[in-house]
Amino acid sequence: MRGGRTLVVCPDIRSVRYDLDADARLAEACGLALAIGLVIAESYVLPVRDVKPNTLFGSGQVERIATDCELNEVELVVVDGALSPIQQRNLEEKVGRKVIDRTGLILEIFGERAATAEGRLQVELAHLDYQQSRLVRSWTHLERQRGGFGFLGGPGETQIEADRRMIRQRMGRLRRELEQVRKTRTLHRDRRGRAPWPVIALVGYTNAGKSTLFNRLTGEGVMAEDLLFATLDPTMRAISLPGVEKAILSDTVGFISDLPTQLVAAFRATLEEVTAADLILHVRDIANPSTAAQKKQVLDVLTDLGVIDADDGASAIPILEVWNKFDLLDGERADALEAIAADDPDVAALSAFTGRGVDELVQRIGAQLTTQAVTREYQIPASDGQRIAWLHAHGEVLDDADGEPHEGQPMRQIRVRLNPKEFGQFETL
Ligand code: GTP
Repeated sequence: MRGGRTLVVCPDIRSVRYDLDADARLAEACGLALAIGLVIAESYVLPVRDVKPNTLFGSGQVERIATDCELNEVELVVVDGALSPIQQRNLEEKVGRKVIDRTGLILEIFGERAATAEGRLQVELAHLDYQQSRLVRSWTHLERQRGGFGFLGGPGETQIEADRRMIRQRMGRLRRELEQVRKTRTLHRDRRGRAPWPVIALVGYTNAGKSTLFNRLTGEGVMAEDLLFATLDPTMRAISLPGVEKAILSDTVGFISDLPTQLVAAFRATLEEVTAADLILHVRDIANPSTAAQKKQVLDVLTDLGVIDADDGASAIPILEVWNKFDLLDGERADALEAIAADDPDVAALSAFTGRGVDELVQRIGAQLTTQAVTREYQIPASDGQRIAWLHAHGEVLDDADGEPHEGQPMRQIRVRLNPKEFGQFETL
């Protein structure tokens, strides 16, 4: 599909309530198409008053699409919405081109971007699930078309049944493999959970600048492009911060609006890492006209993940908002927003691109992580080498001296700085 001349059509259906306005949705859809190397020959919004069951669009609109395809030598039509299998097939027939819908497009992108074994398995599973639903729903039509001879399968078995069986078997295998990969990953996470390093998770709407900020903070060349989904799988790097010898910075997949339900599970799984973080950096493209709607999408996902309480909106993990792309704002707006950010301890204004404000962010993160740590004093039997060693390995031991013997047992008195999570871990040792 790469390099294919594409027409992107965004249906604006009257009965549907959208989070973003039609132009913003069209811009996002074009961004998605560009992300997999399609060439956009033309793009527009088509208002849909009544959804036509056979074609989604009205007949005049379908004609317009067909004509535009001819005029612009278009090879592929992307419809930024959900098409039923019937609608997809009818549109393909009428415009004489391949037509894909939003789920199809996102699946292509996920497929290209998945970098880890788990990501690839999830995408393939979602893809098969999508295909399966298409087969099921177009069953009657295909069966009729093939005359019901069952020419490939056994007696009475149609091609479509064979296809479905194959898909089911492959999905079963994928699920088992995925289970295995997940077990391994949980093990890794548990191990990291016990490590003395705090985890900082970068989250944000797609294209907000997470990878660019990640690069700034780690100084490493993680792929950053003006493409949506440059990061499908979480990427981790160790960084050092003022007052914090080592922290783990984790980059996550960008969020997008209106994610097709089939993809939600695949997408969420890559976000589980966020729930184990000590600090969340919510990177926002503050120069984007849809920045407020984008923020809402991100907070909704964090709520679904259980990070934010659905009732009172409180977050279980501290969230620092990063207002990125400040360099793109005009002077007046930049000044106004900078004043607001300066007054808000939970907001950092910066440009990951120019680097302005990044040092302040680093200071802020360091301060946030160290203020979370508290000092406590423990009396531990000197014979309990394991717990004493744990404190030395995980905390900042401020004092370690002989304590008062307890019931004839020599004791050690240890003063240590740990963050609350580590205290929890120590208490359960
Ligand atoms: P996804 O992987 O899609 O979630 O995107 P992301 O949030 O990781 O965004 P990425 O870092 O790839 O940045 C997207 C685009 O925005 C790139 O073209 C960056 O160069 C650009 N960008 C990022 N930060 C800034 C900034 O502070 N100013 C300007 N002008 N552009 C920026």
